[in-house]
Amino acid sequence: MTVIVTGGAGFIGSNFIFYMLKKHPDYRIVCVDKLTYAGNLSTLEPVMKLPNFRFVKLDICDREGIYKLFEEEKPDITVNFAAESHVDRSIENPDIFLKTNILGTAVLMDACRKYGIKRYHQVSTDEVYGDLPLDRPDLFFTEDTPIHTSSPYSSSKAGADLLVLSYYRTFDLPVTVSRCSNNYGPYHFPEKLIPLMIANALHDKPLPVYGKGLNVRDWLYVEDHCKALDLIIHKGRVGEVYNIGGHNEMRNIDIVKLICRELGKPESLITYVTDRKGHDMRYAIDPTKIKNELGWTPETKFEDGIKKTIRWYLDNREWWETIINGEYRDYYERMYANR
Ligand code: NAD
Ligand code: TYD
Repeated sequence: MTVIVTGGAGFIGSNFIFYMLKKHPDYRIVCVDKLTYAGNLSTLEPVMKLPNFRFVKLDICDREGIYKLFEEEKPDITVNFAAESHVDRSIENPDIFLKTNILGTAVLMDACRKYGIKRYHQVSTDEVYGDLPLDRPDLFFTEDTPIHTSSPYSSSKAGADLLVLSYYRTFDLPVTVSRCSNNYGPYHFPEKLIPLMIANALHDKPLPVYGKGLNVRDWLYVEDHCKALDLIIHKGRVGEVYNIGGHNEMRNIDIVKLICRELGKPESLITYVTDRKGHDMRYAIDPTKIKNELGWTPETKFEDGIKKTIRWYLDNREWWETIINGEYRDYYERMYANR
């Protein structure tokens, strides 16, 4: 079985590659990644020399390059993680989000049509459903919740989802789509809430909480997401959407305070800054479908997962220090200097 994993030098894609190589040692995994600011080849160092692993530096929008690769590799499965993934950057400049997230998805699916595929899987997000009000804790996103996006990021992901489902209906392409809640764990890029707060706290820098910090996210340990994807690509029904989430809703401010406690840092580092434009209030997944159909449930409790994650950032300082000392520094200045 040959699996093409796009965006495998990023956070979730790299965790998925590690998971798949361990779980299916007889599979060939081909990672396609453009290595944008969010892609890090050093992350894949431990698997780079494995005979059943190949890394290809390639943009998923490069039709010629993608077709050539499909011709060479004849993949059985393609799992598309490649995306511009940060909401704040999409507010700054939506253009690249539309290109990579929508047009790149089309190129991959066209390659699947041309060369044949057993399964094309689109890794999507719960953000396509928009947000839920804080005063209605009884409401959750199901697969039937209407698409109702807030940011250029979520709109580009929603556009891709619709395109994927249209390729199923129109061309019979064997697709599946998963919509997962917020992930956390090792190799999470330090522009996102949890790693940013860990890195800043370790440097005794201000912890920039948007608005009042009351926004709620449904956090899932990244390995649980990878397990769900492995189940979907092998046992999920084609043409279906699966929501992935663990009923683990947390307010941002409570997460930041927890990180301070775990690291022995004072809460006085917390700084409330101007809110994100169009900031979604609450995300919450109803995972009943994937639980009933595929027997998936999250295994890592948040209190254990966050401890493991913090431990990983303490043990792997070089990985994230290199990032925050590189070109990412300009982004941080732009985003937070006068906020
Ligand atoms: P990430 O930003 O850490 O990684 C994205 C990877 O894609 C990087 O390695 C980058 O180099 C690569 N990439 C970007 N543009 C590319 C292009 N044009 N061609 C080839 N490679 C390209 O993102 P992540 O957090 O790992 O998210 C992976 C996927 O999961 C995304 O599709 C995202 O929408 C989805 N998702 C993420 C979360 C989350 O909490 N992080 C939750 C639900 C869904
Ligand atoms: P983020 O990790 O960017 O994920 P998403 O916006 O896709 O859910 O942000 C998670 C939450 O944390 C979101 O409500 C915005 C908030 N946030 C802050 O308060 N401060 C920050 O510096 C960042 C990056 C995020």
